[in-house]
Amino acid sequence: MKVCRRVNFNAAHRLYRKDWSDEKNDAIFGKCNNPNFHGHNYVMEVWIEGDIDPETGYVIDLKILKDIIKEEIVERFDHKNLNLDCSEFENLIPTAENIILVSWNLLRSRLDEKFKLKLKLWETENNIFEYEGL
Ligand code: NI
Repeated sequence: MKVCRRVNFNAAHRLYRKDWSDEKNDAIFGKCNNPNFHGHNYVMEVWIEGDIDPETGYVIDLKILKDIIKEEIVERFDHKNLNLDCSEFENLIPTAENIILVSWNLLRSRLDEKFKLKLKLWETENNIFEYEGL
C-alpha cells in the first residue's frame, strides 16, 4: 500500500562550478548560471510504501509524515537561496537531482526501516524527477 504527502516550497538557486571558467559555466548551465540567481516553485511528493497497521488502519499517520517533511524539507529550503543559505549545497550543485537526493537522505533518516520511500520533485511543470534510493 502506498500513501503520499505533497508539499510546496519556493527557493532560489544558481547552477555553476567555482572551478570552471565563466565561459564553461555558461556553455553547460546556460540561463541557470545567472549570477543573480533565479527561483522555482518546487512541488515534492513523498511516497511511503508499507503494510496497513491493523491497529490504526494507517500505513503511516500522515500528520506525523507532514511534520517530518515540514521539519526536514520545508523549513530547510522554503524561501531560501539554496547556494547561499543551505549548507547541504555548499559543495554540491543545487540541481533538482541533488535536491531530491539530499531530501531523500534527510527523510530516510527520520522514517522507520519498514517503510519504502520514494520522492518525486517538480522543478517546473515539465521538469520532473524521481528517486527511491539506490
Ligand atoms: Ni533553475
